[in-house]
Amino acid sequence: MESPCTSNGCGDCTERYACHCLGITADQVIQAVTTLGLRTLDELRQQTGAGAGCTACHRRLRLLIHRHAQSSSASPICSVR
Ligand code: FES
Repeated sequence: MESPCTSNGCGDCTERYACHCLGITADQVIQAVTTLGLRTLDELRQQTGAGAGCTACHRRLRLLIHRHAQSSSASPICSVR
């Protein structure tokens, strides 16, 4: 049996769903997190529907939120006097 995924970690897949049940791609999740400022899985589910099915994707969704919410919430660490 041959796996449909290649050894490069699905980097070339055209359909990289973060949530298969709702057909939400990782790009859609990242866009929602960065543009809407989402911070929790509940917020993501309310805005996109991702994670509202079998829940198998919750770990992956939380990871995407964690990665991209941090980068979008970076605040300056210096202050102007
Ligand atoms: S894969 Fe996301 S809810 Fe089932």
